Order: sequence, then structure tokens, then C-alpha cells
Amino acid sequence: MAQTSTTPRHFLTLPDLTADELHRVVARSAVLKRMWRQGQVYEPLKGRTLAMIFELSSTRTRVSFEAGMHQLGGHALFLNPSDLHLGRGEPVEDTARVLSEMVDAIMIRTFDHDMVASFAAAASVPVINGMTGRFHPCQLLADIQTFVEYRGDVAGKTVAFVGDGHNMCNSYVRAAGLFGFQLRVATPRGHQPDQGILPAANVELADSPAQAVAGADLVVTDVWSSMGHEGEEADRRAAFNGYQVTPTLMDHAKPGALFMHCLPAHRGEEVSAEMLDDPRSVAWVEAGNRLHSQKALLEFLLLHGR
Ligand code: CP
Repeated sequence: MAQTSTTPRHFLTLPDLTADELHRVVARSAVLKRMWRQGQVYEPLKGRTLAMIFELSSTRTRVSFEAGMHQLGGHALFLNPSDLHLGRGEPVEDTARVLSEMVDAIMIRTFDHDMVASFAAAASVPVINGMTGRFHPCQLLADIQTFVEYRGDVAGKTVAFVGDGHNMCNSYVRAAGLFGFQLRVATPRGHQPDQGILPAANVELADSPAQAVAGADLVVTDVWSSMGHEGEEADRRAAFNGYQVTPTLMDHAKPGALFMHCLPAHRGEEVSAEMLDDPRSVAWVEAGNRLHSQKALLEFLLLHGR
């Protein structure tokens, strides 16, 4: 059931949806989670297909989109670029136009954010960023859903991001203004968030992890060497020395503060082994919520995002 509109809504970065739409998707994620847990069959995407192009590895993103489409009554196609003509030089724009003739939405994970933007510009169905080197907006939907699930509205709260100012940090920078929380970022010099999105509403750069975390309601980190940083691991371990999130660092946060990590985690680097299983960690629920937030996003883009 390919769509006929030539002006689809895409989700390449958080501001592709309005703040109101983002709040609706997050709220809907919780409803879909409840329905799924109650065993309700809800298949509004029967007959619909999502094409998923993964140029980089994935566990959570792949499984959540694939299982999510199945649960909504649709189908997901896993496409490895090396098996596509895309991997042999067929232009991105041509691939986008051809897939748009056959499927109802396309999800892409690749390092090159500009490639995804070019793909979306040529597509006539919704394109979803499943993570690029600049942004990981799908993860933010699950993170906000998880915070709301445990602590209620994130507006007015303080979030500390400790570690690499890479795609997760950039996405938190974007989220701060849209969801109305204060963001404190602690990164080593030379690893700050993308200068193209700073200064940003509600965002301040802290001098140290302890300063960022002081009184925070939520503490977040991500790996020091993301996909695309291969070969830099030793230099990065040295640069990020002192930026590990531990129970002791968390003690600077507000009582009742939560810890999140988008995973996969490198225990002993950005997070200590005990922190992931600390009672303040909600990383496993956060990972599970990828399923529900992906379903809410697919439902929004395919059924309501016009
Ligand atoms: N957090 C996240 O995107 O996980 P994957 O790389 O496993 O998809």
C-alpha cells in the first residue's frame, strides 16, 4: 500500500516534529506499551512495509523496528547496502525514488547524515534516521518515554550528559528546547557537541562531570568510541579519563535521579560495571522502550503525520 503524497513527513532529527507532536508520540508510546503488555492485537499497519537500510551494526534499532512493524500488522525488510546496488554506486536519490515506489517507509542507519538528508529529499515516503554520526533521534524518544514512565514530565528537570559530545549528546541538545528541560554537558575539550547546533536553548557546558551532575534529575552517557571512531580508541580512552559515570558520581545528583545509557555499553570506560545494575539505572527499561517508541513513531508517520 504505497503512499501517494509527494510531501511525506520525515524524522531525521527531533525538530522534524513539532514539540507538540513529539509529546504526542511519547505519550502514545506508553499507551502502546500498555496495550502490548495486555496482549491486545493492534494491527493498523496491515499490508504496510518498512525498508530498513543498515550500513552500521545494530541490535536495538533493528529489532525494535522489525518487531514493531510485525506487531502493528506490517512487515519490515532488512537491507544490507552491500547486497543493494546502493553499495555498488547506484545513486542515493535513485534508490530513494525506487524504494518509495514499493514500500511505505524507509529507515536508514549510516554514519553520513547528509546522505540520509539527500535520501529523504528524493523519497516520497517517510524516511527515519535510525542513527547517523550527527543524530540519534529515535533513541531520544525512548529516553524521554522512560523518564516520563519513572518520574513524570521531563519539563523543568535537569539532565546531565557526561562523555562524548557525539550523536547522542547532539540529540539531547536538540531535545532540551523541545521538551523543556535544562541540559548540562560535561565533555573533554575537543569533544564538545556539534558547534553547528550550539548555543542552544536550555543548554550549558559544564566544567566537570561533577558540576554537570550536581542536583541533576537524570544522568546520561554514551560510549567514548562510537561507530566511525575505529582506530581512535586508545586516544579516546586517554581523553575521556575522569568522565566515567559511577555510583559515586551519581551521588552528586538529586536523590531519586535516574541513569540512562543507550547501549551497547563499554563497562570500565564510560560507565563502571556496577553502575549499569545500580538501582538508579533504568538502562534495560530504556532499551525495551525502543520497541514502543518506534511503534508510536511509525504509527504517527504512516497514519497521522500528514
Ligand atoms: N542504542 C542503539 O541504537 O542500539 P543499537 O546500536 O543496538 O541499535
